[in-house]
Amino acid sequence: MTDTRDPELAVVVLAAGAGTRMRSELPKVLHEIGGVPLIGHVLAAAALLAPTRTVVVVRHERDRVAAAVGELAPDALIVDQDETPGTGRAVQLAVDALAGFAGDVLVLSGDVPLLEADTLSALVAAHRGRDATVTLLSAAVEDPSGYGRILRDASGDVERIVEHRDATDHERDVAEINAGVYVFRAAALEAHLAVVTPDNAQGELYLTDVVAIARHAGERVAASRAPDASAALGVNDRVQLSEAARILNARTVRRWQLAGVSVQDPATTWIDQAAVLAEDVTLLPNTQVLRATEIARGATIGPDTTLRDCEVGEGAVVRRTDATLAVIGAGAQVGPFSYLRPGTRLGDHGKIGTFVETKNSTIGDRSKVPHLSYIGDTEIGVDVNLGAGAITANYDDIAKHRTVIGDQVHSGSHNVFVAPVRIGDGAKTGAGAVIRKDVPPGALALSVAPQRNIEGWVDNNRPGTGAAAAAERARAAQEAGHGTQRQDG
Ligand code: UD1
Ligand code: CA
Repeated sequence: MTDTRDPELAVVVLAAGAGTRMRSELPKVLHEIGGVPLIGHVLAAAALLAPTRTVVVVRHERDRVAAAVGELAPDALIVDQDETPGTGRAVQLAVDALAGFAGDVLVLSGDVPLLEADTLSALVAAHRGRDATVTLLSAAVEDPSGYGRILRDASGDVERIVEHRDATDHERDVAEINAGVYVFRAAALEAHLAVVTPDNAQGELYLTDVVAIARHAGERVAASRAPDASAALGVNDRVQLSEAARILNARTVRRWQLAGVSVQDPATTWIDQAAVLAEDVTLLPNTQVLRATEIARGATIGPDTTLRDCEVGEGAVVRRTDATLAVIGAGAQVGPFSYLRPGTRLGDHGKIGTFVETKNSTIGDRSKVPHLSYIGDTEIGVDVNLGAGAITANYDDIAKHRTVIGDQVHSGSHNVFVAPVRIGDGAKTGAGAVIRKDVPPGALALSVAPQRNIEGWVDNNRPGTGAAAAAERARAAQEAGHGTQRQDG
C-alpha cells in the first residue's frame, strides 16, 4: 500500500474536558448521535484528510475515552493532559507529543461533530494559500451565547477572540463565533502557547488567546466562514446534543432520499450512520433504522418500527416491529406488533405475525408463525404453519433447550412445545396439545384428554342462576325445533 498521507498535516482532537454541562456519568465526547460517539464523527472527518499524525488529548474519564478512541481510530496517539486546565494547555501537550513536526496543525474539538471533511480541507487549503500563521473557522449564528466571539479591527482583520464569560455586553452582541477549529503553523503555535496566561474568568489557559498573541507578533490571522453555520454547532449540553442529532439525521435522510429511498416523514425517521439502504426502500413514519442495519431493494419498513443491526431482504414488509440482530428474508412479512430478539432468522416469504416474540430461532422459507406466539431456541423447517398461540417452553429453570420442527409441519392452536423436543417432517398436532415427546414424521400428535360432558351439571349444582335459566331456554328451543323437524319428516 502506498502512503497517501499528507506529511505536512497533523490533527489534534481535544477531548480532555469534563463536559460538566452535560450533567452525565458518560463522558461528553462519548454521547452518540447517529449511532456514533461525538468524537467518532470528528475522527472520521479528520481521517479523510489523511494527516500524517492524529493526536487525541484526554483527561476526564481518561480510560473510557482512550478505549473508545482506540476503537474508532486505532492509529491515533493518545496524549494525557495534566492538571493545568484549558484548551491551550491541551494543545500545548499535543504539540509536545508531535516533537519535531514542522507542518500545519489542524485543531478540532471532540464536541463539534457536524463539520464535514470538505469544510476542513477547504480550511487547510485556505490557510496554505495565505501567509497567515493561524486560520480559524468562524460562523455567523443566530444565538452566539456560550461561544467565543471573533473581534475584528477597523480594516476587518481578526484581532482576537473573547470568550463569552469574559466578554462585555457590547462584545456579546457580535454574532460571528469561533467554531473551535483552527489551522496553525506548528512553530508559531508552539511559541505563542508558551506565553498564554490563565488570566481570565475560568482561570484556564485558553487556546483562543493565541490569536491576539500572533497579531501582536505582527503575524496575520485569517478566518474562513463555515458554509453552513449549523455545522459549527458545539455540543455542551443535552439541548445541543439533540439539536446536533436532528441536523445530522436530516442530512442522512436527505442523502438516502437522493439515493432512491422513500422517506414519508423525515422528521420522525431516524437513520444511523452505519445503516445501508437500497433503492426503492420505503420508510414509513416513526421508524428507526439503527446501527449496521441493511435493507434490501423494495422493502417497506414501518410505521412505528425500530430495527437494530438487522438485515431485511428484498421486498419484505416490516410493520410496527421492534427487532434486534434479526435477519428477515426476501418477501417476508413481519408485524404488526412483533418482537424479534437477537438470533431470529426468518426465511424468504416467511411470516412472523401479530403479538409474536422470537429469539435465537430459525424459521424456514415460506413458514409462518402468524399469531400470539413465543418461539425461542427453535429451528423450524420450510412450509410450516404454527397455529395461534404456539409456545416453545425452552427453559426448565436450569438450562435452555432446543425445539426442532421439521418441514411441512402444521400445529393446532394453543400448543406448548416442551423442549428438548423434535417434530418430524409433515407431522401435525391437535389443538391445545402439550408436546413433551418427539413426534415421528407424518404423525398426528394429540395430548389433550378426550372431552367428557356431564349433562345437567348446572341444573344440579347451580339451580336458579342465570346460567340454569339460559340452559333451560336452549333445551326448550331445541325440543321445539326437534318437534317441528319430526313433524316435517
Ligand atoms: C471553546 C472555545 C470557544 C469556541 C467553542 C466552540 C476556548 C477557550 N474556547 O469553548 O471560543 O467558541 O469552543 O465550540 O477554547 N478541552 C480539553 N482540555 C481542557 C478543556 C477543554 O481538551 O482543559 C476540550 C473539551 O473536551 C472540548 C474542547 O476542548 O472537546 C472545547 O472545550 P469546551 O470546554 O467545550 O470549550 P467551550 O466553552 O465550548
Ligand atoms: Ca464546547
